[in-house]
Amino acid sequence: MTATPTDCILIVDFGSQVTQLIARRVREAGVYCEIAPFQSAEAAFDRLAPSGLIFSGGPASIMDDGSPRAPQRFLEAGLPIMAICYGQQTLAHQLGGIVAPSTSREFGRAFIDVVADSALFDGLWKIGDTHQVWMSHGDRVEALPDGFSIVARSEGAPFAIATDEARRFYSMMFHPEVVHTPDGGKLIANFVRHVCGLGGDWTMGAFRAAKINEIRAQVGTGKVICGLSGGVDSSVAAVLIHEAIGDQLTCVYVDHGLMRAGESEQVVSLFRNHYNIPLVHVNAEALFLGGLAGVTDPEAKRKFIGKTFIEVFEEEARKIGGADFLAQGTLYPDVIESVSFTGGPSVTIKSHHNVGGLPERMNMKLVEPLRELFKDEVRVLGRELGLTEAFVGRHPFPGPGLAIRIPGEVTKERCDILRKADAIYLEEIRNAGLYDAIWQAFAVLLPVRTVGVMGDHRTYDSVCGLRAVTSVDGMTADVYPFDGAFLARVATRIVNEVAGINRVVYDYTSKPPGTIEWE
Ligand code: XMP
Repeated sequence: MTATPTDCILIVDFGSQVTQLIARRVREAGVYCEIAPFQSAEAAFDRLAPSGLIFSGGPASIMDDGSPRAPQRFLEAGLPIMAICYGQQTLAHQLGGIVAPSTSREFGRAFIDVVADSALFDGLWKIGDTHQVWMSHGDRVEALPDGFSIVARSEGAPFAIATDEARRFYSMMFHPEVVHTPDGGKLIANFVRHVCGLGGDWTMGAFRAAKINEIRAQVGTGKVICGLSGGVDSSVAAVLIHEAIGDQLTCVYVDHGLMRAGESEQVVSLFRNHYNIPLVHVNAEALFLGGLAGVTDPEAKRKFIGKTFIEVFEEEARKIGGADFLAQGTLYPDVIESVSFTGGPSVTIKSHHNVGGLPERMNMKLVEPLRELFKDEVRVLGRELGLTEAFVGRHPFPGPGLAIRIPGEVTKERCDILRKADAIYLEEIRNAGLYDAIWQAFAVLLPVRTVGVMGDHRTYDSVCGLRAVTSVDGMTADVYPFDGAFLARVATRIVNEVAGINRVVYDYTSKPPGTIEWE
């Protein structure tokens, strides 16, 4: 068995913002799936031999010159097809129906009435029901292709769901993949499990077992090196690879001295003591802080840290006699090809290199055991591998560490001040039970001193900024709305307990226009 199961669904992407959510819903139904842009969908089809197809939505209009189409052979393959929004339009158009611009574009919540039975509704919807769905479309189908009939409609969407039950084609104007279509996940589960007949056996346990075989086959007797950052992705990748090949794996933890309180100790004790994984812990604090002396420009800091990280890693790799493979915690969102309409038929591939440039420089091949997984699936795998809840649920932490949370010059003294304030803030967040509701929370130490009074004394010390945001992927973020009493408690503790800080402020900027980190 490979980690890519034979039972799978292919999602053809026409460029919708929410295509990844379709994949999430399919996998929640226990079925493996992959996303391929419409331009390269045939290659994916040949490689995967899927048991069913889903056509995503997309921003184009079917009337536009050069607007995307599904490969015609997909429609003749005898496979079940679920076609969403733009996918519905191209399916209808390619099968001989008529699509026309709608006089009114429809966005947001809508209610549809079920008017006929469908295999899609098994155990879920009945004739006469009304259900909430999420619409987002401009054009609409005017005349259905032969063999299709309407199974659900609303005033604004006469073909809300139109199906050809004999050919197992199911098309809909709304988006079942978003949470605003409350039964959408169940409709998708019905499609993949009941209509396509897939077993729902794609579990993390099965993935783990299959991946271990795959890693063994790839690596053979070679040596693998893995750069640990202390984050969830590289840690889960390392534990999984270690389970597969044992001591052929060496982990290197380049400790730049810019970690949070207690973090380096946790990483070292987890890997060395708990998992018994060969770990090189390089204490490079002096090197990093020395190089950062006098540097205040944020980009200069980032560049210095990135370059020095690679140099130290390379040096350590050489000391252990080199390696044939570099392990990375690359995730599925980093490898999905994105559909580009403006740039013509070419596609851009987002690739993520935690230690950019190293594989080429050191002539190593990559081992990326998490490339098929989403972040929350990596967390499930981490639990499966015995990592603690506190570890797998950790907030993201940037590679350059505290250096980008200390605007101005970074010194050991300022790192120590920030570590204390940050630890108090996170402790209060955990005590209030808010840690898991927040995407990322941290303290920032500002290069500004202000006057205060403590007891009978004048103080003249630094300002500490607090940041907490909610987010789905870090691309956009909202401010976490703490209540005033919570913030007052944190501010009081920080000013009382951390020498060097006499004022605390809360950052109320969303992203955009702000970024999450301050530098
Ligand atoms: P920004 O500040 O760009 O951050 O809104 C978005 C997310 O990315 C993290 N971040 C980084 N992660 N290396 C990383 O591994 C970096 O250089 C880096 N810079 C920002 C940030 O913490 C947030 O989660």
